[in-house]
Amino acid sequence: MSEFSTVLSESRRFPPPPAFAARAHLSSPEVYRRLCAEAEADPDAYWAARAKEELFWKTPFHTVCEWAPPHARWFLGGTTNLSYNALDRHLDTHADTVAIRFEGEPGDRRDYTYRELHAEVCRLANGLRALGVRPGDRVGIYLPLIPEAAIAMLACARIGATHSVVFGGFSAEALRDRMNDAQARVLITADGGWRKGAVVPLLDNVRASLAHGVPTLQTVVVARRTGASLPSLRAQERSWDDVVAGQPATCEPEWVDAEHPLFILYTSGSTGTPKGVLHTTGGYGVWTSLTARWVFDLKPDDVYWCTADVGWVTGHSYVVYGPLMNGATVVLYEGAPTTPGPDRFWDLIARHRVTILYTAPTAIRAFMRLGDEHPKRHDLTSLRLLGTVGEPINPEAWMWYRETIGGGRCPIVDTWWQTETGGILISPLPGVTTTKPGSATLPLPGIHPKILDKQHQEVTEGAGRLFVTRPWPSMLRTIWGNDARFKAGYFGEHPEFYFTGDGARRDADGYFWIIGRVDDVVNVAGHRLGTAEVESALVSNPKVAEAAVVGRPDALKGTALVAFVTVKAGVPTSKALEAELAAHVTREIGAIARPDEIRFAAALPKTRSGKIMRRLLRDVASGQDSKGDTSTLEDLSVLAALRTDDE
Ligand code: PRX
Repeated sequence: MSEFSTVLSESRRFPPPPAFAARAHLSSPEVYRRLCAEAEADPDAYWAARAKEELFWKTPFHTVCEWAPPHARWFLGGTTNLSYNALDRHLDTHADTVAIRFEGEPGDRRDYTYRELHAEVCRLANGLRALGVRPGDRVGIYLPLIPEAAIAMLACARIGATHSVVFGGFSAEALRDRMNDAQARVLITADGGWRKGAVVPLLDNVRASLAHGVPTLQTVVVARRTGASLPSLRAQERSWDDVVAGQPATCEPEWVDAEHPLFILYTSGSTGTPKGVLHTTGGYGVWTSLTARWVFDLKPDDVYWCTADVGWVTGHSYVVYGPLMNGATVVLYEGAPTTPGPDRFWDLIARHRVTILYTAPTAIRAFMRLGDEHPKRHDLTSLRLLGTVGEPINPEAWMWYRETIGGGRCPIVDTWWQTETGGILISPLPGVTTTKPGSATLPLPGIHPKILDKQHQEVTEGAGRLFVTRPWPSMLRTIWGNDARFKAGYFGEHPEFYFTGDGARRDADGYFWIIGRVDDVVNVAGHRLGTAEVESALVSNPKVAEAAVVGRPDALKGTALVAFVTVKAGVPTSKALEAELAAHVTREIGAIARPDEIRFAAALPKTRSGKIMRRLLRDVASGQDSKGDTSTLEDLSVLAALRTDDE
């Protein structure tokens, strides 16, 4: 953060607009303090009350929380179903409210009322049962951002199958690894999707990944989106239409245990392989439902648009489960933000009269660069609340969002959370919290974040590493198939405190300012990547001897990826090789992991014990070393050899 930004953000404060607070679900600091005090005084009573308010329980729970660090179990003895909570509960009161308002990139439109969405989910749920999917089976979902994605997730939840959504931007290789790890029985995909005017060939990717083998996979269900390859389906493949044909529009939900696995979502860690974050039903349902209403202040007349893809946790919690459990109208837009023109987002907001917009700082910065004329051409007065997520937002972008998009009248909620946390943990409450540009502000009631220094002493004012010191309902339960990695990764630092992997600062008002990752995870344009994953993709190329990938600050993407590569003896380095390696990473992981810069080096700087000196590489990558180019790497190696510390 620049000096200017710090001064700007520390000195500016924005209390909730009185007109907003007057109508908000939570509307005063007293309410916030009361909830925090209740949670503190009797956590079980507090969480039990929240759980009963948020969900329909078929069987009531008998125990609120069982905490055997690092494992938590919530709402034991309770049975419920999140598809029922997201759909059936609304049928008596507002079946004809639009649940999903879809717009495809080419401009095609489809609305689903709650009644219609319920029927589609039931048909697919019945179809999946007919395919032999049983409670606990894993179902992969590899779809564009189209209504079928939400339908597929809810259909799985309805029959107790555990879904694992893979972002459509991931490659065939990445899909195969995830499907193998999850041991998926069925995969739901589409013939393609639209992105920047072109077709993303999802079915081709599926076929390429199956060719390398996913032994557990029995059936691939293919939805029609582009019409590309449906006429030529192969033996294992069934069209979506065929699977749902003749299926009834009702389906008895599977009443699952509160701790029944709801989904596995793969995310990046500090090793080369992604980890399957496991979320269960009850606690996740309670917290996503509650936070969607508290943080976004969802009301029946809102038109809510979260721009995240369902392939990320934001799409799970705040496109599908949280808003639908609240009976909201959710806008779903398939395509790129600037297709066909730089004002596509603003045009969408104006036409659909969007009232709540939730997006990523990278998108905001990109729009800022494109110029004010694009939003200014559209009527954005329907907006009443703005949100951000995924990476720190710089105060300049925050102010631009507030003034240019929000017309100075909309509160901004900068929401901090993670795939692992399931839902938002630190965020302003829009009718309560005075915001400061760039700060995620304060924890939600019942959440206990702490900043600790290296000796595990609490830092009440200042910077350190961010932990959550008590369990919360929507925390991850484990890493699928790898509990050892769960323990080491999140509770290796402290046996009872969840380690977030983030660095943060607390100011004199107790506000949290997230600085960014302190592990080998980077946020590139709001997408989470492991540098080790990109390194292992690079070294899988036969020309590469060694690779080290680091992040460097980037004004637009937050972080850009720089790869330092040493090639095998006799391999000439060239621009062509750079392009080849970039294409190789795209093939192994997906375009989101493509390095922004590849630098060839004769050797990588290492400590005496052989550890690559990443801090030095980060300095070189961001031009903070004395010379700022790769030729210094030789010197750095010499320097490194003299050092004994491992950073
Ligand atoms: O570094 C933090 C950053 O995103 C990481 C989590 O990434 P992921 O699991 O992909 O989930 C992203 C969407 C919830 C965090 O460790 N992050 C998330 N929200 C914020 C943030 N950094 C700063 N401010 C935020 N509001």
